[in-house]
Amino acid sequence: MNVLTTKGDVLQFRSKLKENKADLGLVPTMGALHEGHLELVRRACAENEVVMVSVFVNPTQFNNPDDLENYPGSLDEDLEKLKTLSCDIHVFAPDVSEMYGSDISARHYDFKGMDTVMEGAFRPGHFDGVGTIVESLLGLIRPQRAYFGEKDYQQLQIIRQLTHQQKIPVEIIPCPIIREPDGLAMSSRNRLLPKRLRKEAGFIFQTLQKGKTLFGTKSASSVTDFIRGAFEDHPYFKLEYIEIADSETLQPVSRKRNNKKYRAFIAAYLGEVRLIDNIALN
Ligand code: PAJ
Repeated sequence: MNVLTTKGDVLQFRSKLKENKADLGLVPTMGALHEGHLELVRRACAENEVVMVSVFVNPTQFNNPDDLENYPGSLDEDLEKLKTLSCDIHVFAPDVSEMYGSDISARHYDFKGMDTVMEGAFRPGHFDGVGTIVESLLGLIRPQRAYFGEKDYQQLQIIRQLTHQQKIPVEIIPCPIIREPDGLAMSSRNRLLPKRLRKEAGFIFQTLQKGKTLFGTKSASSVTDFIRGAFEDHPYFKLEYIEIADSETLQPVSRKRNNKKYRAFIAAYLGEVRLIDNIALN
């Protein structure tokens, strides 16, 4: 597998591709790859002649230093997983100084209120960090298409907004959430769950599904009350937020409208591990 580590490598690689007029798909990741990531890569492989997977644990999007410190992953294991996919995959795995130089800081963006709710409210600066690295990667790699999971639905919408605002010529392709058999959304952080807590983790999706059924007949606030109550009764979970928001604008719903799409968004701690999930409600 071709592993590039410098911006210079990428520029050289990019100019060769241009000569061959091949379409390039980009899958940005922070490594610790799992089936959710691999589905994005498979989709990118199906839609582009050449695929680049970036593996970079981006320090500026971590508001909690312990979270950055404990972030799992090994590049060798990631490369082994990517090798099982039969397509033309190149990996970009720079180190922090290659991406940031000596100034490890984020640019500031105005994402029209999308970045101040939910993850943005509980992880200050997070989306400035995500925006900064994604803008850099898109500018450097210049893919025709870039693939993002609905697992991080708020991130997906913010990146759409970023590429629109910054006029970055790329097609953003949303990919559905890949789940474990018990419904837990796959995530690199799941491997930090001890076994006794891992058994409980399917509760998030089961409760979201019940909420979705209720949303058919009940108001948004009665659905969030129901979900909040279910988490209060659970011995191991600590709910951080449950929000029902407009799928486009991410603004919290006050009264349901027939022509709007809504999603429920949740963040909860199971032991020390913070898990997020979301579900389309209509
Ligand atoms: P990371 O958490 O590694 O996720 C990389 C991509 O995989 C994201 O688009 C994420 O939404 C998607 N993904 C993760 N789990 C998924 C699942 N269970 N089903 C479907 N898609 C899933 O998100 C990031 O990294 C970073 O913020 C990044 C965009 C790379 C910027 O640093």
